[in-house]
Amino acid sequence: MRKEIEEQTDSLGWVLGTLVDPGAGALKPILDAVDFAQADRIVLLACGTAHYACHLASYRIEEFARIPVEIDLASEYRYRDRPLSGREIVIAVSQSGETADTFSALTALGSKAAARLAIVNVPTSSIAREADAILDIQAGPEIGVASTKAFTGQLMALLGIALKAGRDRGALDTASVARAVEELASVPRIVGATLRMAPEIAATAKTLAAASDIYFLGRGVNYPLALEAALKMKEISYIHAEAYAAGELKHGPIALIESGTPVVVFDGPDGLAEKTDSNVAEIAARGAAVVRIGPGEQCDLRIPEAAPLAAPFAYAVVAQLLAYFAAVEKGTDVDQPRNLAKSVTVE
Ligand code: AGP
Repeated sequence: MRKEIEEQTDSLGWVLGTLVDPGAGALKPILDAVDFAQADRIVLLACGTAHYACHLASYRIEEFARIPVEIDLASEYRYRDRPLSGREIVIAVSQSGETADTFSALTALGSKAAARLAIVNVPTSSIAREADAILDIQAGPEIGVASTKAFTGQLMALLGIALKAGRDRGALDTASVARAVEELASVPRIVGATLRMAPEIAATAKTLAAASDIYFLGRGVNYPLALEAALKMKEISYIHAEAYAAGELKHGPIALIESGTPVVVFDGPDGLAEKTDSNVAEIAARGAAVVRIGPGEQCDLRIPEAAPLAAPFAYAVVAQLLAYFAAVEKGTDVDQPRNLAKSVTVE
């Protein structure tokens, strides 16, 4: 797992190179056979970590392409009797390409959708073969059960699709695409700088490793990041970890907060920082041991300043390393955690 976390500067460089031409500030021809202009909805189907990549990207696809995005757990979507217009573009996202829930949700759609695409790390997989067209994230083999470089690779590929859909639908002009491409091109550098924070992240993880419960909070795109951080922590350290949209605190979860309760807060993003400040004040008043992650000086783990499209990649690396070092501290099997398989091939 540690090696795969470190490989992200390269793996993200590779997938970036298939999606955009930073020199020209333009998108490369991806998914040419697919025209998002006619679509009335995008449906993102996945499980686990891949689902959180979809959740995060959904904000950007709606923002750039002005099209409704539905994110669904493949295991639930599979059995929903959802009315389809026939103009949906369905995108299945899977590292292994063999996850039974995602595969069966995709096959169950048959020809009811306008197009069925797949974002995979294994271009020869069942899901890839079932799809009308694929995007290969080329992250290289991911051995550790806890998905890391595939998560950031999936996110990068989905952001590429957001830009393509925005351009196809005339919602993004050339200048906006160029700005976004410039932001995405900064990701390997931002990830490299975040990886150099490993010693201080390890120190924070040491304190978290002693906890029996850890809560993660985020707003906007930082909410699915908090969900992913909690999943990583659960998967490999076996510590009970939950994530909440910070705005939901007052509607119940705040009852869990008492003196010393560890709460990891993903600060910002821009425009929501003040809201996050008041959430932090609420839990601190109840004695929570707050760890703030963000670029601001009020943060305990200060990630590099990054453009809005690039920042989630830095938060993701911090989340991965927090879980990794907490698991190392607890002495669990970081690469092959108990009760889990790398690819879940049964429903
Ligand atoms: C993530 O760390 C887990 N291994 C798991 O949640 C995984 O993301 C899920 O099973 C989906 O796998 P896939 O991407 O291979 O379809």
